[in-house]
Amino acid sequence: MKFGRHGQKHSSSLKLVILVSLFALIGAAVVIVDLLWASSPSAFSALRYVSDNWPLQQSPTLVIPNRNLTSHSKAKDKTKEKDGAPGRLLSATFADLPAPELQWEQMPSAPVARLDGAAIQIKNLLFVFAGYGTINLVHSHVDIFNFTDNTWGESFPMPKEMAHSHLGMVTDGRYIYVVTGQYGPQCRGPTARNFVLDTETKQWKDLPSLPVPRYAPATQLWRGRLHVMGGSGSNRYTPELDHWSLAVKDGKALENEWRNEVPIPRGGPHRACVVVDDKIIVIGGQEGDFMAKPGSPIFKCSRRHEVVYADVYMLDDEMKWKNLPPMPKPDSHIEFAWTIVNHSIVIAGGTTDKHPITKKMILNWEIFQFDLDTLKWSVIGKLPYRVKTTLVGFWDGWFYFTSGQRDKGPDDPAPKKVIGEIWRTKLKF
Ligand SMILES: *[C@@H]1O[C@H](CO)[C@@H](O)[C@H](O)[C@H]1NC(C)=O
Ligand SMILES: *[C@@H]1O[C@H](CO)[C@@H](O)[C@H](O)[C@H]1NC(C)=O
Ligand SMILES: *[C@@H]1O[C@H](CO)[C@@H](O)[C@H](O)[C@H]1NC(C)=O
Repeated sequence: MKFGRHGQKHSSSLKLVILVSLFALIGAAVVIVDLLWASSPSAFSALRYVSDNWPLQQSPTLVIPNRNLTSHSKAKDKTKEKDGAPGRLLSATFADLPAPELQWEQMPSAPVARLDGAAIQIKNLLFVFAGYGTINLVHSHVDIFNFTDNTWGESFPMPKEMAHSHLGMVTDGRYIYVVTGQYGPQCRGPTARNFVLDTETKQWKDLPSLPVPRYAPATQLWRGRLHVMGGSGSNRYTPELDHWSLAVKDGKALENEWRNEVPIPRGGPHRACVVVDDKIIVIGGQEGDFMAKPGSPIFKCSRRHEVVYADVYMLDDEMKWKNLPPMPKPDSHIEFAWTIVNHSIVIAGGTTDKHPITKKMILNWEIFQFDLDTLKWSVIGKLPYRVKTTLVGFWDGWFYFTSGQRDKGPDDPAPKKVIGEIWRTKLKF
């Protein structure tokens, strides 16, 4: 672990003490800091966010009473200690794990940059759906990347009623099942509407709606049924454990209603969900997420407490959830960041738990491998930069990723630019 010096932060620490004390006086409170989005349409600015209680360059926009005075005065005391004795702060990049360097090759960028989109690979084609372009603009179309000649080809629209981000998505090799997701920009809530795409005819059809809307649920096809589990509730925040399934075949629902299945032990959005060896495996994710600021007519995003985890759950024959070895570190925002290569699951990037001192969001640069023979995790490489919500594919020995939100630079793992870049590397375990 690397430690950085605290030095130049002292004058601002004084302000911090004053501010924090002020809040403590006002009463128990957590200040929720808005995301500051860059004015450039191609970039999301990272949030300027220093601690749970203290916005750096912005006045508090919202005070939510969900912490009591005791915990608040503790936070204040800690700050005082830091101020009194020049301590050492944990470096921003402390969460990076050592990872082998890989040779990366950049391919032509996607027609649009996207964050929180979705992607499905069918043979040599990567179907890339939806996503935010900026916090105020969401895409409602599909772009197709051809791994054979490394070009972006056809684009076609999605149904108007289909969600624009945080979708559940899976394919049987021809039909792509699209489940729920967030409808609209900023931090609007999810829809319950579901759709299916025939990738040969590019025709869309309806599927029965979920019992209730879900935000970024884990989604897979297993034993002839479309399974949807976890995610957040309509407020984007509350982790949900529900698990439903629907019998489907060749792009059609064989039932009118979703069936209840065994709830997942831990809820929350942004997980990888894989079916392999006739088992459902659900990897990583988080509890909590940004929420719409109460009363905001545009559903303006504001940050909330969230916990990222490394948990891996498996559902098998017995219809009981079991724990598998956890990831090398907590990892979230990996819904479409995985692929299967030679009986291993490979996962690229994501977010890990926030920095314990600065509370900034931290992106991951590692490529993780989960060997399904040994049930062991390893770090097999490093992406060109840290990035979350990557959309990945594997073709002819090449591992590809595109899209997502990258870091501010090698020394700053906080999220910044939304990208449409696509990169590839030769993978070798
Ligand atoms: C308030 O603080 C006490 C003592 O630390 C703790 O037991 C309690 O759970 C806290 N309540 C809330 C709402 O955080
Ligand atoms: C993908 O590229 C290959 C090589 O140029 C071409 O033969 C094939 O038709 C392309 N596929 C699609 C769906 O465009
Ligand atoms: C997967 O297995 C094939 C055949 O043994 C091998 O050629 C290839 O290099 C392996 N892929 C990786 C990523 O190790």
